[in-house]
Amino acid sequence: MRLFASLFCTFLLSAAPAFGQTQLAATPPMGWNSWNHFANHVTDADVRSAADELVSTGMRDAGYVYVNVDDTWQGERDAQGVLHTNDRFPDMKALADYVHSKGLKFGIYSGPGEKTCGGYAGSLGHEAQDAKMYAAWGVDFLKYDLCSFQDNMHKVEAEHPNDPEAANKLMIAAYRKMGDALKATGRPIVYSLCQYGVDQPWKWGPGLGANMWRTTDDINDSYGRMIAIGFSQAGLSKYAGPGHWNDPDMLEIGNGKMSYDEYKTHMSLWVILAAPLLAGNDLSKMTDADKSLLMNKDAIAIDQDSLGKQGDRLYESGDLDVWTKPLSGGRVAVGLFNRSWSVRDVSVDLAAIGFRSGGNVRDVWEKKDLGHRSGNVVRRLPKHGAALLIVSR
Ligand code: GLA
Repeated sequence: MRLFASLFCTFLLSAAPAFGQTQLAATPPMGWNSWNHFANHVTDADVRSAADELVSTGMRDAGYVYVNVDDTWQGERDAQGVLHTNDRFPDMKALADYVHSKGLKFGIYSGPGEKTCGGYAGSLGHEAQDAKMYAAWGVDFLKYDLCSFQDNMHKVEAEHPNDPEAANKLMIAAYRKMGDALKATGRPIVYSLCQYGVDQPWKWGPGLGANMWRTTDDINDSYGRMIAIGFSQAGLSKYAGPGHWNDPDMLEIGNGKMSYDEYKTHMSLWVILAAPLLAGNDLSKMTDADKSLLMNKDAIAIDQDSLGKQGDRLYESGDLDVWTKPLSGGRVAVGLFNRSWSVRDVSVDLAAIGFRSGGNVRDVWEKKDLGHRSGNVVRRLPKHGAALLIVSR
């Protein structure tokens, strides 16, 4: 019991801000990341243009403030171990300054292994040096991706056949090392773990200063993959809270391979999950439909609610799914989902979610107050469609 109490205190201390400090990632981080659209071709110019677009489209003012360069910015290390950028990123400090000049924050990517997933230099053996360099550039966010460190884990596993935890311990130590290195810089840097949900990072991530951790392998721009990830998050809500979030991966909205209703399901599910909202599209080519999904004020407010509670499944019946998320002020957000191939009515019983005498219902995507309702609220949803409701007293 005493051990549990002390572990719990350590957890609280690491998640909570020191007196007088604002908490990092008090709500799920929002911004843009280069990977889902630009992948390994991303350039300095693409990132500058993303920063410009975040401002001109209104995305920044809607809350999308992090501009994150993903993998493939790295060049070679010199004799002193300093990692240089490659030709596509001539001056990372200048790029960070540019992003900051737009009222945005700047993020970067590395990993605990010798190589990143794209085969570029990782931080193995250079953690403190790299963390100092990020801080000197003005980095505000680090995504730290396992990738080739899995080889080190296989090796230690082979060396310690009687210790089933050997690989896991090595991985956690590697993530702790970078967490400590970031802390030592004194700069507030959001620490985002990317190890595909292996060994339940929601249990050990917060203890080493992680602000978010991927819960699954990669998303792609397909309805099948997106719902496989999204609906697999059931049961994880208790592990998220201010400063530490489950991350079901970045958004695909606007990348073009899902229908409008499928992207609506994507956004609805991610905000119910209190997921970090990192747009992954080419912001210069956003349609009005993309903008209406990414910038709906009520949907964003559900994600960013100050209570900091992740939502969870209320019930599932065949291809129909109902999820709820507690919000501040005693309100509740409800996500209604139709995964079937035909039009279906999906309903929620307000009494079952704490509104015995009914409540005021707002339909988020229709931008309409439905008035005071009691009993079942029904929405007719197209195939692969979703509705988002906010119920208040
Ligand atoms: C992994 C991550 C992706 C992306 C790529 C980059 O697959 O999960 O999100 O960062 O690496 O190589």
